[in-house]
Amino acid sequence: MTTPKTFRWGIMATGRISRQFAQDMKNHVPDAVLTAVGSRSTESANAFADEFEIANRHTNYKSLAEDPDVDVVYIGTPNNLHYQNVKDCLNAGKAVLCEKPFMLNGKQAQELVDLAQKKNVFLMEAMWTRFLPMHKALYEFVQHGGLGEIRMVQANFGFRTSFDPTSRLFDPVLGGGALLDVGVYVLAFAVRYLGMPTHISGYADIGATGVDEQSGYILGYPSGAMAVLTSAVRTQTYNEASLLGTKGRARVQERFHEGTTYITEVGDTTTSHHIPLEETGLHYQAIEVHRCLREGLVESPGMPHDDTLAIARVMDTLRGQWGIKYPGE
Ligand SMILES: NC(=O)c1ccc[n+]([C@@H]2O[C@H](COP(=O)([O-])OP(=O)(O)OC[C@H]3O[C@@H](n4cnc5c(N)ncnc54)[C@H](OP(=O)(O)O)[C@@H]3O)[C@@H](O)[C@H]2O)c1
Repeated sequence: MTTPKTFRWGIMATGRISRQFAQDMKNHVPDAVLTAVGSRSTESANAFADEFEIANRHTNYKSLAEDPDVDVVYIGTPNNLHYQNVKDCLNAGKAVLCEKPFMLNGKQAQELVDLAQKKNVFLMEAMWTRFLPMHKALYEFVQHGGLGEIRMVQANFGFRTSFDPTSRLFDPVLGGGALLDVGVYVLAFAVRYLGMPTHISGYADIGATGVDEQSGYILGYPSGAMAVLTSAVRTQTYNEASLLGTKGRARVQERFHEGTTYITEVGDTTTSHHIPLEETGLHYQAIEVHRCLREGLVESPGMPHDDTLAIARVMDTLRGQWGIKYPGE
């Protein structure tokens, strides 16, 4: 069997993050060809295609999903559309890289993970931070026992934005709220080092649109390990993360999810590890997608389906405690 020299990408939606992703791909992934774009409007599809020299322009998402010239689709639509978009792509046999949060809830996530596995098609949540050089180095350090056994994970991700009930951050129809927008990053960090928790409890401040504007939550594990996490869209927090182990501790400096420096303190030795990042870093995950496709994998070991499901289930439990339901749930 021959493996392709290049992969043909379709970009679904032309918003802020799709634009950044396309830019990073153009600059840093030579074996990717941006072949198609899908948008709700002809104007946006054409403008995006002209900017990034994309040949195929689609004025609806399903038609992009079914484009025979596309191998893999990047999904950059609002949270509430991810379910249908991923489903259409998988049913058309397209590999998928879907923006975070993967789905609105665990039920949707489970259904699509099952579909990908049944169809033997690659599927990954775009948890891009996991593939950044610094985060890979930290993970390896911890895997090799550099900090001993992890007893506690702490992580915060919050920013203050103006209240706009129509924006994707606040509108429940679009899957708004801090937990799904940035809580997903602190959860992805905790789940990577500690796995699926057995205890979950949190408190949230619910705003005028009925979604969480800030919250704090604790995950507990049978070993006694715990994660203490916060997320916010109306409060600027110190966006740092730390791993506290039996042998030492590590701290990823602000903003941890796009981090380039972590500091370890093991015994009497403090070391600063600086590992720079090219551009915004959205392309590292695409390089991983290519690697997985060449190896015929349906999931990436760096962001496996089980981690995506664990994150979605923790979010379900927290939203259940806070009484937040999205339309249709
Ligand atoms: N990885 C990251 O760092 C990162 C950062 C920000 C956001 N995200 C994720 O990426 C997704 C999109 O976020 P974004 O910041 O790019 O949002 P955005 O700028 O609002 O763009 C979203 C795009 O989705 C399409 N869309 C379809 N229905 C829409 C609706 N009802 N309202 C608004 N847009 C609609 C539009 O594209 P068309 O008009 O072309 O159809 C729009 O341009 C979200 O899931 C978000 O969580 C990830």
